[in-house]
Amino acid sequence: MTEFKQRIFSGVQPTGNLTLGNYLGAIRNWVALQKKYESIFCVVDLHAITVWQDPAALRDATREVAAGMIASGIDPKECIIFNQSQVPGHAELAWIFNCVARMGWLNRMTQFKDKAGKNKERASVGLYVYPDLMAADILLYKATHVPVGEDQKQHLELARDIAQKFNSDYGVDFFPVVEPLILGEAKRVMSLRDGNAKMSKSDPSENSRINLTDSRDTIAKKIRKARTDSAAIAGTIEEMADRPEARNLINIFAALSDQTAGDICAAYDGQGFAAFKNDLAELSVSVLGPITEEMKRLTDEKTYIDQILKTGSEKARALSAPILKEVHNIVGFLQS
Ligand code: TYM
Repeated sequence: MTEFKQRIFSGVQPTGNLTLGNYLGAIRNWVALQKKYESIFCVVDLHAITVWQDPAALRDATREVAAGMIASGIDPKECIIFNQSQVPGHAELAWIFNCVARMGWLNRMTQFKDKAGKNKERASVGLYVYPDLMAADILLYKATHVPVGEDQKQHLELARDIAQKFNSDYGVDFFPVVEPLILGEAKRVMSLRDGNAKMSKSDPSENSRINLTDSRDTIAKKIRKARTDSAAIAGTIEEMADRPEARNLINIFAALSDQTAGDICAAYDGQGFAAFKNDLAELSVSVLGPITEEMKRLTDEKTYIDQILKTGSEKARALSAPILKEVHNIVGFLQS
């Protein structure tokens, strides 16, 4: 008897460069999960345009993110890799979810507040209903598990609310309740310049993040320049609770070397940051260097990447079609 595999879905926006945050918070975990789960990984270009994108840059970034997934070890033969806009069902189910989700729920989304900033009136409507599209991404495939970084937790809670409300509005037990998988020692990778800010593609300071397009020299330089404090490394991570920059580097070290933060503290107990940073720079270069180089090589192979996205989209359309048909039936849309 073949073993039943549960299904995971996750996505990355093709806006700017992939960062160490995307890698440690998401993609590295996907690589570990792809054997155990039936896996669907999506380059979410519909999400990207909630903020205006230059069309040529969007095309390049879409290929680059797909290349980054493959270079990190996602196997296109085992998993579905595709870009969202090639499967119209995402936008269609999102519309249905716009009619299920409540304004009050969306008003609580902290990411919208952060991204829209002070001038909410000028934000796109798409940015506001972004979490409905995210719920549609997952539920279009009835995925049960969603591996993400910690910053996506609130959106996944909303996806659970939408699934439950849809089921109760229509008196069905149709959509599963989604479980987030927030894994590893670097669930929230922070800026290298400010331990209280998330490492992000949109931070104006290049030194705040490591990009998967950075050269080995740049990666090492950014690690050596990373902000720390003047105290020595403590023997346990709990003792470093109030030292966000230091704790962030320890977590990065742990995640990159598949150890726990506690192991790293114990190994460097009582030392300053000079030797630690040299070791972290070396570790980062040895893990990320081959990925960044393979990603660059693949990004240049446009036809190869486009073919993978096309094949992935065909598979995704086939998986989602019967689910979407059933949704139409549940909602009461006539089908000929
Ligand atoms: P995005 O493109 O901002 O990030 C992609 C993935 O990377 C994780 N991540 C981080 N993890 C730890 N520390 C960080 N500093 C960091 N920065 C980013 C994110 O948590 C995410 O897992 N809305 C999503 C994309 C999306 C999606 C989905 C995800 C669209 N539909 C359906 C899951 C399921 C986003 O903007 O991710």
